[in-house]
Amino acid sequence: MTRVLHITVACCLLVINQATRMHRCELARVLYKNELDGYEGYSLNDWICLAFVESKFNVSKINENADGSTDYGIFQINSHYWCNNYQSHSENYCHVDCEDLLEPDLISSINCAKKIISGQRGMRNWLEWRLHCAGRPLSHWMTGCHLR
Ligand SMILES: *[C@@H]1O[C@H](CO)[C@@H](O)[C@H](O)[C@H]1NC(C)=O
Repeated sequence: MTRVLHITVACCLLVINQATRMHRCELARVLYKNELDGYEGYSLNDWICLAFVESKFNVSKINENADGSTDYGIFQINSHYWCNNYQSHSENYCHVDCEDLLEPDLISSINCAKKIISGQRGMRNWLEWRLHCAGRPLSHWMTGCHLR
């Protein structure tokens, strides 16, 4: 009896864990639908590369930084500047709860990313994008993806 229960629990935990990670082309479709292709001059390739290097497409990724701030969601948006987690000081430029940046529909993350990218630094706001995506061939990120 307990063994059956254990197996059931283990199975469901696995399903929940997997659900946090989006497939690449599924992400491409969501970003496309939300009009990110070409937004501020950045292609879907850039957005997908950004999401991969920041979160490996893990919608619910949370990462605590050494400075006491925390990064949230698929784009790892920082609580010090962009969202409020009610734990440390935040400018909250996106006027959003950090927890909302973990929602599977990505709407809050996308809206906040649009705001970030509209600043002078564009995608260079994200260190990982500068290191791993900027100026590199990126077309493989969309390989095999159909947008409709
Ligand atoms: C996604 O991120 C969360 C929070 O950081 C973590 O607990 C979970 O294991 C990650 N999921 C995958 C599939 O990597």
